[in-house]
Amino acid sequence: MSDEREEISVQIRPVTAADETGIKELVTAAFGQETEARLTHRLRHCGAFVLELVATSEHGRLLGHIGFSRVTPADVGPGQSLLVTCMAPVSVWPEFQHQGIGAAMIEEGISRMKELGEDLILVLGWPSYYPRFGFDAELARKVKAPYAGNAFMALALTEDGHRNLPVEVTFATPFQDFD
Ligand SMILES: CC(C)(COP(=O)(O)OP(=O)(O)OC[C@H]1O[C@@H](n2cnc3c(N)ncnc32)[C@H](O)[C@@H]1OP(=O)(O)O)[C@@H](O)C(=O)NCCC(=O)NCCS
Repeated sequence: MSDEREEISVQIRPVTAADETGIKELVTAAFGQETEARLTHRLRHCGAFVLELVATSEHGRLLGHIGFSRVTPADVGPGQSLLVTCMAPVSVWPEFQHQGIGAAMIEEGISRMKELGEDLILVLGWPSYYPRFGFDAELARKVKAPYAGNAFMALALTEDGHRNLPVEVTFATPFQDFD
């Protein structure tokens, strides 16, 4: 089994319309419930996603999905013109987890966010996982949001993202129905 795993060749590309059903199944399987798949659908169809990527096998099978949605700074304070996104959800099929697919998607996503000129990425997740990509709970303490604590982390991609804080932000509307 471990030999088979080592042979997996993963490609990462932007989502197409043809991926929609597969992503729904994948996100539901990864989280073991439909809540995050519904969130993904709503974020996509309200136009909140700045970027969605999928990881596929060399045969085109969907293995993973990641989304970055627009977060809006309040019209006050030093951070009002920052470009901010939220990285969520991140999903890999259960049988393909722990093989670096999540990390590959996160790294590619961060790199594309930099190319797009984004200043700050926010994430809500495991404090043991996301710091390896540079996410920092201390930095997120300067972001006033409906989330707080060690699971709420931020990654600055630009000087402005470091400097123009604090910032008060609103997440895309579908997050309001999400617990
Ligand atoms: C999060 C996720 C996308 C990571 O994808 P992946 O391809 O397994 O990630 P990688 O192989 O790059 O990294 C694996 C690491 O993730 C972390 N991790 C995975 N599952 C974890 C869990 N339940 N709790 C804490 N950390 C976890 C561990 O550090 C793990 O390292 P290990 O393989 O040495 O144990 C995948 O585990 C997943 O789809 N999980 C279910 C959905 C989910 O919870 N998404 C994230 C919400 S914060």
